[in-house]
Amino acid sequence: MKMRIALIPGDGIGPDIVAEAVKVMGVVGTKFGHKFDYSFYLAGGVAIDTVGHPLPESTMLGCQDAEAVLLGAVGGPKWDHLGGEQRPEKALLGLRGGLGLFCNLRPAILYSQLSDACPLKQELIEGGLDIMVVRELTGGIYFGERGRNEAKDRAFDTMAYSVSEVERIVRMAFDIAMKRNKRLTSVDKANILETSRLWRSVVDKMANDYPEVAVNHMYVDNVAMQLVRNPRQFDVIVTENMFGDILSDEASMITGSIGMLPSASLRADSFGMYEPIHGSAPDIAGQDKANPIATILSVAMMLRYTFSLSKEADAIEAAVGKVLDARWRTTDIMSKGMRLVGTKEMGTLVAQQI
Ligand code: IPM
Ligand code: MG
Repeated sequence: MKMRIALIPGDGIGPDIVAEAVKVMGVVGTKFGHKFDYSFYLAGGVAIDTVGHPLPESTMLGCQDAEAVLLGAVGGPKWDHLGGEQRPEKALLGLRGGLGLFCNLRPAILYSQLSDACPLKQELIEGGLDIMVVRELTGGIYFGERGRNEAKDRAFDTMAYSVSEVERIVRMAFDIAMKRNKRLTSVDKANILETSRLWRSVVDKMANDYPEVAVNHMYVDNVAMQLVRNPRQFDVIVTENMFGDILSDEASMITGSIGMLPSASLRADSFGMYEPIHGSAPDIAGQDKANPIATILSVAMMLRYTFSLSKEADAIEAAVGKVLDARWRTTDIMSKGMRLVGTKEMGTLVAQQI
């Protein structure tokens, strides 16, 4: 089987970590008899510098032609002065919207080997943490109408959702809950927002199709608090775009391993875009310091969700576990008694364990 993958290394540490993910994919290909066909594309700051636009048309076309996209990271202080439409982040929104990737999966897993890095009291995480945040990614306030009045002293952003937009993401979340512990928390602000009341009614209706799933509704402010008070109450969280942006940062931080967490952006067919949750960390770019594990685990998600290769995905995840067991650490997850390695060596160690 030959798999067409678009690679977008992007900015900062992006190229460093994507290189290690490709290294690991190479070994997976050899061991399991798959051929990966890579094409490289520009997006983000590097695309602004090279062709004057954060998301060149050739990148969009290349991604549309691929079966999956692996993205490193985009952005950095060099481009912070640019206006809204010209910012590197615009590439991400363009890819999400343009490719129709409405379903964003952000697993927040606490690695037992790293439990010391968790900022919460140990008693709160006894038994581990494994939360799946399902974030709506192509609607809401991110994509609504926005602007300024003529005097430019007033601005607005609009949050809007249609029933069908809510249905497709909520259905994904129920399906995921069915494969996990069958608990689904739908997060909204239904005491204030009309979009949230619509969202809630869709969830309640769909719950009838999933009698085995225990559903609850919570307000977003309460969830922000409960995530640090008692995170183990959560299994799958489903929410709209901006609430999901905020809560997924919080959920990843409480695991203490933001450098370890992958993500998938999906639509109804098998196409997906995969990227680490962390940013481009320009301060350590090109210095062999970045942790490539989140990107390597993003490859595992790609194999599982786009190519239905669960054995191969399991092999990557198990390899990461073994490397951590053997006490290898990059600087971001380093602690006393552990063995420090750079980006490249971390990639090699994981590849060797496949
Ligand atoms: C994320 C990021 C993006 C978002 C930014 C960089 C546009 O924070 O992927 O969570 O807000 O969605
Ligand atoms: Mg974010």
